[in-house]
Amino acid sequence: MPAIVILGAQWGDEGKGKATDQLGRAIDYCVRTSGGNNAGHTVVVNGEKFDTHLLPTGVLTPGCTPVIANGVVVDLAALFSEIDRFASRGVDVSRLVVSANAHVITPYHTALDKVTERFLGKNMIGTTGRGIGPTYADKIGRSGIRVADLFDEGILRQKVEAALDLKNQILVKVYNRRAIEPDQVVEELLSFADRLRPLVADTSLLLNRALDEGKTVLFEGAQATMLDVDHGTYPFVTSSSPVAGGVCTGAGIGPNRIDRVIGVIKAYTTRVGAGPFPTELLDEDGDRLRTIGGEFGVTTGRPRRCGWYDAVVARYTARVNGLTEFCLTKLDVLGDWERIPVCVGYEVDGVRHDEMPMTQSEFHHATPVYEFLDGWNEDISGCRGFEDLPKNAQRYVRALEEMSGAPFWAIGVGPGREQTIVLREG
Ligand code: IMP
Repeated sequence: MPAIVILGAQWGDEGKGKATDQLGRAIDYCVRTSGGNNAGHTVVVNGEKFDTHLLPTGVLTPGCTPVIANGVVVDLAALFSEIDRFASRGVDVSRLVVSANAHVITPYHTALDKVTERFLGKNMIGTTGRGIGPTYADKIGRSGIRVADLFDEGILRQKVEAALDLKNQILVKVYNRRAIEPDQVVEELLSFADRLRPLVADTSLLLNRALDEGKTVLFEGAQATMLDVDHGTYPFVTSSSPVAGGVCTGAGIGPNRIDRVIGVIKAYTTRVGAGPFPTELLDEDGDRLRTIGGEFGVTTGRPRRCGWYDAVVARYTARVNGLTEFCLTKLDVLGDWERIPVCVGYEVDGVRHDEMPMTQSEFHHATPVYEFLDGWNEDISGCRGFEDLPKNAQRYVRALEEMSGAPFWAIGVGPGREQTIVLREG
């Protein structure tokens, strides 16, 4: 299977890092195609915990080439600090490749992200404050800075000055902040140029050639479908395209290259930041899911909002991504309940919906229609085969699979590499 996409099927934090790592042992390239250091993946290798933000998780797999493709937005200070952190723990980061066309997050993007959120007050998105939105806004507005610009000081200076001409007006006159000096930004960006240059390549060419040679390329999703700028819960979304279609534009490959599209989905649901979340639990069950599941952000440390599994979201995700399969994660977290509610549809203003409502206002008013499945009330973290699972856990998995719109490929029963039950080989 030469090209595989792994993406988030809910609102992020589904355990994509672990699913990627699961395949990672057999892949040649591991590619990030969207988002930036707003992402946070946790992978546990031989009992050691690694958090990645910008680096593709394939960096942890010997022999695999990690690639940051053109669709990613790169905070260079964050990138090099992550590289140093991994290198100091003995991880070989030397194969990393970065696209010349990836956009760069500058200090003014981060500043604008933070002041805009503050300005929005109760209407805030709850961003990670990493400058993601303002950087993608500049990319689409054709005033962004790209990696290759760092190797031409004249061009870089021109672009930074042009961008700050306008942004400083906004910072000073709207937000009452100090102006940012173009020279300071240029100096900071140039300070990374020498270290960055050997990593930079035409990653579209590299990946297409790799696919021509029959190499296995894994496109590793960040964020998730429900945070997609087109298909997510707009405006409570990130500013990129984490759906399968975004992989093509974010990496410069054609859709006909992709063989498998795997949606990673938790056995329950979480979300960070603001926005609608029909199955959210604001009671003791929510607190228990958060505590047992360790639901605190890898990037910001924020407690995640928790709720039951939402099969409407699963079906929607299967549809907009053309999922070939799901990877169900964190089933072990549910070992504490007698009965487990699963959302099978919504009621919106008295009308039953089996599919995602067409408008955001309807989605905001959606209340879940639950089916109740029997729990298994035991620790399943030692199970390695489907038959090892208690009967009620097997029934829970099969019921979810039936209502979610794509077959289940694997089930996670704990954070470790080995704590995975593979249901069918890919
Ligand atoms: P931004 O991507 O920092 O602009 O944040 C926009 C929204 O996406 C906020 O609600 C964030 O909490 C959410 N978000 C961004 N990245 C992630 C992620 O990796 N996991 C979960 N939520 C995320």
